[in-house]
Amino acid sequence: SNLTQEELKKIAAYKAVEFVESGMVIGLGTGSTAKHAVARISELLQEGKLKDIIGIPTSTTTHEQAVSLGIPLSDLDSHPVVDLSIDGADEVDPALNLVKGRGGSLLREKMIEGASKKFVVIVDESKLVKYIGGSGLAVPVEVVPFCCDFTRGKLEELFREAGCVAKLRMKIGSNGGDATPAVTDNGNYVVDLYLERDIGDLEAASEKILRFPGVVEHGMFLGMATTLIVAGKFGVTVKDR
Ligand code: A5P
Repeated sequence: SNLTQEELKKIAAYKAVEFVESGMVIGLGTGSTAKHAVARISELLQEGKLKDIIGIPTSTTTHEQAVSLGIPLSDLDSHPVVDLSIDGADEVDPALNLVKGRGGSLLREKMIEGASKKFVVIVDESKLVKYIGGSGLAVPVEVVPFCCDFTRGKLEELFREAGCVAKLRMKIGSNGGDATPAVTDNGNYVVDLYLERDIGDLEAASEKILRFPGVVEHGMFLGMATTLIVAGKFGVTVKDR
């Protein structure tokens, strides 16, 4: 078949929404794949096929989308247990470990998806990798702005053996202005770790990254996904961990 990547994202998203039941508290993911799931949930609410859904948005962008589509929303303070979260990913390894945060929403995503009984990850087949970092995309780390270059240097040094280059994520200035650091929904910056080789033990890597006081969180989601939905040229597959 000749489905575009956008159509594959939509197929995976719609499949995930089949897991949504009336009365559930739903973590609403962020990004170009998750936005199809949010739109589908709103459609089913309008058609009366779903009732009493409460959405917990993982970013200000998703919050705005959900508000515009009339999905009732709440947060983790009021709903500390989430029934099901649906979100995309930048990379998925064979053990269902993820890299997320290309869109910069990794902290809220990790808080909400970590509080979820089920976490369904939706991707097109281009996101599947042999190992974390294997697609050449970065592993993002959210850092506090204070002396972010110091923290950037520490992170680069940590993964020197994997050929790491750590870069502060910049945002192109509007109307030809200078580039400025990209700011997350939480007022922090992002350091992107570009890895040349497999970093091996991901749990160990995670702990080392989180040990730096300037680090807030990183974009490796280890052992969190409960279900993976992959849409590819040859159909859609659902895999449970
Ligand atoms: C947002 O920060 C990310 O974690 C996204 O969920 C991830 O980047 C996947 O986005 P796409 O579905 O747009 O590829």
